[in-house]
Amino acid sequence: MNFDSLKQQKSRRTPFYYYDMALLNDTLDRLESAAKRYHYHVHYAMKANCNEDILKTIFKRPFGADCVSGNEVEKALSMGVAPNQIVLAGVGKSDWEIEQAIDAGIFCLNVESLHELQVIGLIAEKMGRPVKVALRLNPNVDANTHKHITTGLKENKFGIAHNDLGLALELLDTLDFVSLSGLHFHIGSQIMELQPYIDLCHQVNQILDFLASKQVTLEHLNLGGGLGINYHNPDIEPIPNFKLFFETIHKHLKSDLPVHFELGRSIVGQCGALVTRVLFEKQGASKNFLIVDAGMTELMRPALYSAAHKIERLNDETSNEVMKYSVVGPVCESTDSFGDDIALPLSVRGDVLVIRSAGAYGESMANNYNLRRLNAAEYSYDQVSVKDTL
Ligand code: LLP
Repeated sequence: MNFDSLKQQKSRRTPFYYYDMALLNDTLDRLESAAKRYHYHVHYAMKANCNEDILKTIFKRPFGADCVSGNEVEKALSMGVAPNQIVLAGVGKSDWEIEQAIDAGIFCLNVESLHELQVIGLIAEKMGRPVKVALRLNPNVDANTHKHITTGLKENKFGIAHNDLGLALELLDTLDFVSLSGLHFHIGSQIMELQPYIDLCHQVNQILDFLASKQVTLEHLNLGGGLGINYHNPDIEPIPNFKLFFETIHKHLKSDLPVHFELGRSIVGQCGALVTRVLFEKQGASKNFLIVDAGMTELMRPALYSAAHKIERLNDETSNEVMKYSVVGPVCESTDSFGDDIALPLSVRGDVLVIRSAGAYGESMANNYNLRRLNAAEYSYDQVSVKDTL
């Protein structure tokens, strides 16, 4: 990630998100060519980052949108994403969101329960409009990630249980306006090993055999997202290994159906950083605190998942003596901390810190607790042409 343009600015009000659009474009290039090799369809999981310029940059590419709310569908449509490139997922879709999706003629709704399937059937019938769905099945695969972002285990609220697939097919037979387009899976997020995906492919193969035995035909498979990024060392791996990811899926999935993915973090995670300034230094009884002007309101991940984001000091002018700090925000919550034992050059009031790998689930999860508000994001573009075409 390149911070050159940021280093030249002295007076910018912090905190704000900073995006390296050249890195985003390199990531998109790499993703596009890796997916193209197997004719895989990628839907960008908008929840990861809905920043306008990020969306514009992503949707210039041949990627669809993975939405989890009616407002995300509306946003994707307004950004020119074709309806047949949009999927709507989510364990609790409101009636208006279902109606809106049917009305817009999106690619498909990923259905997460038998009850939801029934309701979609009723709404489609009332509207007199056909709708395509994918059944989201819970494959009971351990993604080996943080428990708050594991979604494919049987105790999770997501998807239709394996055993209920037969019932879902029976129900589908009774719904005149609903047709089965595909199967959908998403086992979790920030998955750093490929083994869970191999396990998923094996499960999918078995389910496909079961469906073939029942003469059920499908039009697509959707394997969700979840590919992780290197938070500890973002500069070693600024772009995730999409090539190996798709190669692995291709090797283990025994199907000729078109395959779709919903990637979020792996696309935008590394191109963003939260920029914050040191307000105060405080020598606690057992810790050296650096109190900064960003908090859990701007980046919630450390408070919510004990996530560790690499923190670096941006400016070079003060001492290079290294100290261990607890870097904490201004909010009156003990979880408002970006971590303990963070090694930084001796830092003083006014120093600028960058909290790395914050492009995904950073700005999009920011909130205005304490009536706090993020300052407008800042971008750097190596290729001038990118900015020109925005
Ligand atoms: N598809 C579905 C159905 C999902 O639930 C998600 C993410 C994705 C795709 C995209 O997953 P990704 O490729 O970004 O891993 N706030 C958490 C992450 C929550 C992920 C929720 N679902 C975090 O900050 O780590």
